[in-house]
Amino acid sequence: MIIAPSLLAADYGQLAKETTRASTSGAEWLHLDIMDGHFVPNISFGPAIVKALRPLTKMFFDVHLMCSKPEILLAPFAEAGADQIIVHLELGEQATPLLWKIRKLGRKVGLSLNPPTSITMIQPYLDQIDHLLIMTVNPGFGGQEFIYETLPKIQQASAWREQRNLRFTIGVDGGVNFKTVAECARAGADVFVSGTALFGARSLKAAVTKMRKIIHAHDPALADLKV
Ligand code: DX5
Ligand code: ZN
Repeated sequence: MIIAPSLLAADYGQLAKETTRASTSGAEWLHLDIMDGHFVPNISFGPAIVKALRPLTKMFFDVHLMCSKPEILLAPFAEAGADQIIVHLELGEQATPLLWKIRKLGRKVGLSLNPPTSITMIQPYLDQIDHLLIMTVNPGFGGQEFIYETLPKIQQASAWREQRNLRFTIGVDGGVNFKTVAECARAGADVFVSGTALFGARSLKAAVTKMRKIIHAHDPALADLKV
């Protein structure tokens, strides 16, 4: 299980402090949402910010590119300190060369899909990726309501992974809070991106611990062991 606080929900006036807060919270990954004002109707931050935060923590930097032209951003984010770079399936035929390029840069390869995109579209890519990120809100903004209709996608991805004996991790992103995280865990997710619920808490560390306990209690693998 991996918990990934999303910096999008942090206090932008204190990004260094917020990164340190995440780093000491017990969470494994720091999720970095990159928005270009074109692929999604919002703008966040670029490689210079990621580079400035990199020396502050050893956390795994999970860079989620919600951008129309990710090809121009892969090398800059790799150099800035990204450990994984996620691009979107909605880019169509551009997706495959982007995945190759991320691999060539020596970074973990992630692919994401939006709520309206069918999970069947992901099938041809499953043996090429390290991480599948299932969007559980329409990307662009933090603090949105979790879309429950995305839950069967997690179950399907998890079933395909088992059938094909693959090893990619399955992440969920958007509206993941102390309630919805249980549903995601039960459906088979193993990476939990959460912005508002974690950074909005007075103690990020206590919030991460609480979320971890809830996930643990709903992990189907552990439930099997109890029977
Ligand atoms: C949505 C972003 C998410 C977002 C999650 O566009 O990709 O990572 O920060 O934030 P919350 O948990 O607030 O929905
Ligand atoms: Zn994200």
